[in-house]
Amino acid sequence: MLRRPRRNRKSPVIRELVQENSLSLSDLIYPMFVMEGEGVRSEITSMPGVARFSLDLLLEEMQECVDLGLRTFALFPNLPESKKDKYATESHNPEGLYLQAVKAIKTRFPDIALMTDVAMDPYSSDGHDGIVEEGPNGFEVVNDQSLVVLGKMALAQARAGADIIGPSDMMDGRIGYIRELLDSEGFTNVSIMAYTAKYAGAFYGPFRDALDSAPRFGDKKTYQMNPANSREALIEAELDYAEGADFLMVKPAMVYLDIIKLLSENFDLPIAAYNVSGEYAMVKAAAANGWLDGERAMLEILTAMKRAGAKIILTYFAKEVAQLRKS
Ligand code: PBG
Repeated sequence: MLRRPRRNRKSPVIRELVQENSLSLSDLIYPMFVMEGEGVRSEITSMPGVARFSLDLLLEEMQECVDLGLRTFALFPNLPESKKDKYATESHNPEGLYLQAVKAIKTRFPDIALMTDVAMDPYSSDGHDGIVEEGPNGFEVVNDQSLVVLGKMALAQARAGADIIGPSDMMDGRIGYIRELLDSEGFTNVSIMAYTAKYAGAFYGPFRDALDSAPRFGDKKTYQMNPANSREALIEAELDYAEGADFLMVKPAMVYLDIIKLLSENFDLPIAAYNVSGEYAMVKAAAANGWLDGERAMLEILTAMKRAGAKIILTYFAKEVAQLRKS
């Protein structure tokens, strides 16, 4: 036998020497949840280890993460029903919880990168990412009218200090609409991470628990993608590229590694993968039952995303990875 692949696996040093992909803290974005109140830490039952924080405690938690070496965060709001309406008005209220939190975070941590979320669902009494209108065929999430609200939201976030705007709504044309609006207001340096290929799947349940944002009726299949499709992701990516996106994201990540690979082979922009709430919950649940080694599964899953071509990973595991590196 002239070829013995096992020679390259013979010792830890050799294995590391030939290792093709690795996970670094600078690849990770840690999503966090802010809620109203003071001194509040509210655990999310379906996401063990993840909590919603009132702003004071969020800043403390973030300090801990920064000390652990994390540098990029994504922020989502949990709002009481009383703040929600049909047009997501609260989403662009500069005095509201979310925009005040963005401002406070960037004041306290000017050196971190903060990604904000653009979509109507946290603020919508309908629980949809765009405006819901009654049409001839029943309820419809209307595209172009929604862009106006999304634009106001994005602009308000840029004004509050957002570094990266993350449109997660999947309306057509929103990247270009937001890019032009930001530029016309002088925010040419604010980045956009497009949720390019976001699939209408079953893995967002725990996140919707965290935000109390589940659709009040219907589903998101008229705007999020069909999990059976891959070629369609190229159309979304071409549009986002042409409309000025700085990053292309695939979401969820674990069961969409082929899509991550597809985009990374066809586009030169950095590819991000969103390791979503349901994927996190599955690992945590199995580990809690002693059915698998949670730590090893976590690292294997995240490394697989890197191997598939993701440069960036949004993951609720980020803090745990950072703690592991420190210990
Ligand atoms: C909606 C949004 C969702 C997530 C981020 N933004 C869920 C949805 O489409 O209902 C999911 C994130 C996760 O599950 O971790 N704008």
